[in-house]
Parts: sequence; C-alpha cells; structure tokens
Amino acid sequence: MCTLKLFRIQLPVYALKLKAFVILLLLSANAFAKDLADSTLVRSAMHILRDNCINCHNSIKSKGKLDLSEYETARIGGHEGPAFIDGNPNESRLIQLIKPGGDPHMPPKKQLNDEEIKTLSQWILAGAPWITSELVIENRIAAASELGDLPDNYRPVFAVMLSPDDQKLAAGWGNQVVVNNFDQEASNKVKLNGHRDVVQSIAWSPDGKLLATGGFRKVSLWKSSDWLLAGEIDDLPGRVTALAFSLDGKTLISASNASGQEGEISMWQSDGLDKRLGWSAHDGAIYDISLSPDGKSLATAGGDKLIRLWNMADGKQLKQIEAHSAPIMSLAFKPDGTAIASGAADKELKIWDIKTREQKNLVTGHPGNVASIVWPENNAELITASDDGALRLCNESSKTPVKTWAKAGDLIYSLDTTTDGKRFFGGSENGQVYEWDRNGKIIRTLRFE
Ligand code: HEC
Repeated sequence: MCTLKLFRIQLPVYALKLKAFVILLLLSANAFAKDLADSTLVRSAMHILRDNCINCHNSIKSKGKLDLSEYETARIGGHEGPAFIDGNPNESRLIQLIKPGGDPHMPPKKQLNDEEIKTLSQWILAGAPWITSELVIENRIAAASELGDLPDNYRPVFAVMLSPDDQKLAAGWGNQVVVNNFDQEASNKVKLNGHRDVVQSIAWSPDGKLLATGGFRKVSLWKSSDWLLAGEIDDLPGRVTALAFSLDGKTLISASNASGQEGEISMWQSDGLDKRLGWSAHDGAIYDISLSPDGKSLATAGGDKLIRLWNMADGKQLKQIEAHSAPIMSLAFKPDGTAIASGAADKELKIWDIKTREQKNLVTGHPGNVASIVWPENNAELITASDDGALRLCNESSKTPVKTWAKAGDLIYSLDTTTDGKRFFGGSENGQVYEWDRNGKIIRTLRFE
C-alpha cells in the first residue's frame, strides 16, 4: 500500500499538453496528425507501465533488477539483460513475459488485456520512445530528505559482512543496519538507523573498530565500541553500491552511482572523512569492488561490462579486462592475488589471470545473475550466490558449478564467509540472512523483526 505514495498524477500538466496538441492539430491537421498519434501511443504505453509495472520495477524496488522508472535504467534491462529490443516486439522480453504463458509471467498475478499488449508491442515497434513525465513517479530519489517512507515491508538484505573476528554480522535490512553479536549467549542485536532508503553496502575496518554503511547518497561511519556515529558523508551522487577499507584501515573507498551516469570511486581518510581522491571509474554503474589481497590495487566491476584495476596509491588505472557481455555484478580476488573471479548478469562466472588478463575459466550453469562471490582464504574453491537462492561451489577448472547447495527462500543478493571458509551468510530479498555450512546445508536463518 505504501508504495502507492511513490506515484503522483500531474493532471494539470497533462491536460495542458493535450490542449496544446489540440490547438496545433486544428491549425495544421495533417502535419501534426502523425505526431499526435505517435505521442498518444507513447503516452498510453507509459501509462500501462505506470499502472502495472513500476510498482515493482523502480529504483528503490527493482524486482529482477529491472528499473522501468527511467529511460536509462529501462534500457539497461534486468537480470536477463535488455527488457526490449527496439522495433522487435516478438524478441522483447517485456512482451514475451506479459503474454499468457509468459515465464515468469508479468505482472505476476494479473493478465494484461489484448489491447494493452498490442499497445506495448506497437510502442516497441515504433522504437520504444520514452516520456518519463508520463510515468509520473514522484522524484523522491533526487531529494534524500524526502525519502523517509520506504514501504515497511520492503526490507531486502543487499549487504552482509562479518567483522574481522567473525563474531559480529552486519546486515542491511531495508533502511536499517542490524548488527548481530554471535559472541553473546542470546545472540543480541543492535539496530542502526539513519539511512532513509535501502542500505546497499557495508564494510568493517580491518581492526573491527569501524563499520561503514552506504545507502542513497550517503555513507555513515559507526564506532563499534558504542555504535555512535564517527562521521558521515552525505553528498555523494546516487546509490553507494560498494564500500571497502584499505588494508591499513586508513582509507575508506566508496563506489557511488547517479542513475545513468558514470560510476565514481572516492577515497576518504577513515579519520575525519576528508576526501583523498576521486575519479570516474566506469561508464555506467559500479556494482562491486574488491581490494587485492596485498592491498595495492582495487578492482571495480561495471555496468559497462568491464573490470578495471586501479592503483590504490594514486588512483591511476593499471589495466582493464573486457570481461562479460552484460553488467558485472560481483568480484572476488583469489586469496593469493594471482586471479580474480567475476560474475555477471549474463549468468556467467569467469576467472581471470591478473598478470596476463587471460580468461582462465568460464563457468556456465548459473540460473541467473551471479550476484555475489566469495573466495575464502586458503581455499581452492569459490562460492557464488544466484537468483534461485542457491549457493554454488565452483573452482578454477570445472566448466560448471561442482555442487549446488541448499536453496534459500528468495533471491540472494549478498554473501560473506567466515575467515576459515566454513560458514556462509547470504542476504536475501525476503529480509532474512541464511547461514550455510561447508556441506551446503542451511543451518540457520536470521530474522530481524
Ligand atoms: C508484483 C511485482 C511485479 C510487477 C507488478 C511486475 N513485475 Fe516484472 N518482475 C517481478 C519479479 C519478482 C521479477 C523477477 C522474476 C524472476 O526473475 O523470476 C520480474 C522480472 C521482470 C522482467 C525480467 C527482468 C530480467 O531481466 O530478468 C521483465 C522484463 C519484467 N519483469 C517486466 C514487467 C512488466 C512489463 C510489468 C508490467 C506489465 C511487470 N514486470 C510487473 C515483479 C513484478
């Protein structure tokens, strides 16, 4: 119900536009007839999306990772890549999924009528022109101060991270951060407030004294001794999708993304949060970052399908790998630093030799996005999280996952492992964190209500 607040109908503007069109039409009927027909088609298409789809496919809640609220994000598509192909309705997923029998069927619990399907098909045939104002989603995203009323029931866990001693698990839970203390008898929880929308990223400092959390435009830095704020950065562009500390803990690295623009990397002094360095790192969003085990370089994964490596000392690019055919969602270095694994929206996991940039292995067989990867220390195997909620054991030589572990109840977005690589924590769309053991069994489910 709350999500309805996301919409605002701008009747006056709409009416004015129509009036203008009618006058123009009367003045020069022929010249404008086509334009009017076209824009009527586009408007109708926008309204079908607005009334049936945007509720689940917007920038706060992007089911299937598809955000239909803006032209740029709609173009990128979702887990499975582009939602529509200009001029080709039959090949467009957006059309395939709304027809009876679409799998998964969209909208999930409703059937659009023939007229609506025809309108969307014609619109794609016409090149899928876009009129954002006709989607009239209130532009809450632009004003962080207005973001107070995230739907109460929307609490996905986009980020999880264990403290360096494995005794605490910090998890984003909607707009809150929940820290579970495993070292205490009745595992007690601390809830940290202050983010106004979904927490996207979490990082512990190497000494465990600081916890950084990132949301829309904002990074909060908390002291784990008393959970008071040590500082805040609140003027970042867009969503802060990834955070990491340097090995010495003196630098905090953030990846932030304004919708449809270049993804930015910034480096901040952990003490005082002064900005040390900042640069545009990808043409498109940055979905993950990973520090090399020696701490000297930073790998970034982009919506532009590239992996880039940067020198931590001066922010200069060291190399780039044209890695995937779709946005790259996840990265993990091999513990010895000689290789890096990347997972993407093309459902592929790839392993790259850092020195030569050659592809060492391609693992196919994930059912969707490879959303997160961990490569535990002292381990020849890596573990991935994907859209079916299962974790998968993969390695450097097998062309398919070696083993598929137990499935969680919903998509898993985020994953972390204990230092010994024996337990795994996955954050889910349904607001829970699942724990797997090394045999692939789910041994615990953490709920935060
Ligand atoms: C109630 C929520 C909801 C509504 C409403 C909804 N969707 Fe979805 N949509 C989802 C979910 C959940 C998924 C992911 C399903 C999956 O991957 O199994 C999804 C996935 C998709 C995908 C595939 C994205 C990808 O690349 O994997 C497309 C395309 C899509 N929806 C289009 C639409 C359109 C068009 C409408 C409106 C006519 C719509 N959806 C309405 C929830 C919704």
